[in-house]
Amino acid sequence: MSAPFDAFRFAHEHRREVAWLSQNTNHLVPPEVVRAALDEAIAERRYEGYPLASGDPELLELVRSDLGLPGAKPFLTSGGTEALYMVARATLGPGDEVVASDPSYLIIHRFVELSGARPNCLDIYRSPFRLTADAVQAAIGPRTRMILLIDPLNPLGSGYPREEVRAIAEIAHDRHLLLLNDVTYRDFSEGHALAAEFAPEETITVWSVSKNCGLAGLRIGGFSASPELTGRIARFNTNDLGVNILAQMAARAALRSKRTWIGEVVGRTRANGRRIHEVAREVPGTSVPVSPSRANMTVIDLAETGLRPEAVQEELLRRHLVFVRAGNYLSPAHGGRFVRVSFSNPPSDIERFARAFPEVMRTLSARSVAAR
Ligand SMILES: Cc1ncc(COP(=O)(O)O)c(C=O)c1O
Repeated sequence: MSAPFDAFRFAHEHRREVAWLSQNTNHLVPPEVVRAALDEAIAERRYEGYPLASGDPELLELVRSDLGLPGAKPFLTSGGTEALYMVARATLGPGDEVVASDPSYLIIHRFVELSGARPNCLDIYRSPFRLTADAVQAAIGPRTRMILLIDPLNPLGSGYPREEVRAIAEIAHDRHLLLLNDVTYRDFSEGHALAAEFAPEETITVWSVSKNCGLAGLRIGGFSASPELTGRIARFNTNDLGVNILAQMAARAALRSKRTWIGEVVGRTRANGRRIHEVAREVPGTSVPVSPSRANMTVIDLAETGLRPEAVQEELLRRHLVFVRAGNYLSPAHGGRFVRVSFSNPPSDIERFARAFPEVMRTLSARSVAAR
């Protein structure tokens, strides 16, 4: 039997030719934003020494002011992923439950499970395609320890109105629960509200510069919480000698200048999202459950076509070098019905998708009819 197709291996082998619509990465930030900072750090050979373990002070200040949470204490990690891991390890234990959703960014659920806790996944694959305060309230039981609020939500692109964030934050406060607010895609969401504004003692805000600043490959992000809670989580830090210095310098340069370029990045992203929706509308049997997306990705539902998302992913990648993701790693209940497409990319990538997707759907549909 032949080995299953390894999409990531294939995509990395063809890295330069691939249109990366697969990991919600951002390919629109002007490269000069971080190039000078990286050049300078390399010229000074800063990689030879350890960074200040607590993080570059200006970077920490920029994170604080970017989030607009003056009372909170930010902590740097190697990407938001490491922050999520630390939070789960530090705050959850066997028997605890976390109110979460399906679909979701399931890596967080895995970290919850590693801590012996259990995600209680509310099915949100129907309008409004996100949690609601009422549903959260109803899901809380004696073992509930945390609410997971990913806003905007990967993969659906749904976002939370300010009043809903407030209502969920108030539940966390009233019921003495922690609120894990993952705001990785915050900059793409108009009118975004941070839960920490309403429940500063209970909220742990996990942030990242991977997506808004286009720095995914450098692996830097972090969390921010009350000084007491940050201290508690920081005990689980394995990166005792500090976060990669080149990543810190790049993040500092990006956050220093973000307000000068983020508007254009978000504008282009939204236009791309509209184009992708238009393409999906033209393909019989497909639909976009959440539109417009409040993030830089969307789900295209294929259920009515009867085609498997894995087959669509493979055909798009192998034949057209367009990389989107099959939904199975984002939803145990519904992953078999959708692909996720991200779109902070140059318009040329989006046009490659626009040409390839209808063709792939026609080819696979014809093949499945012939096989019957
Ligand atoms: C919701 C969510 N949180 C966190 C992350 C991890 O980001 P980072 O690159 O900062 O580790 C991702 C990455 O896709 C994400 O979608």
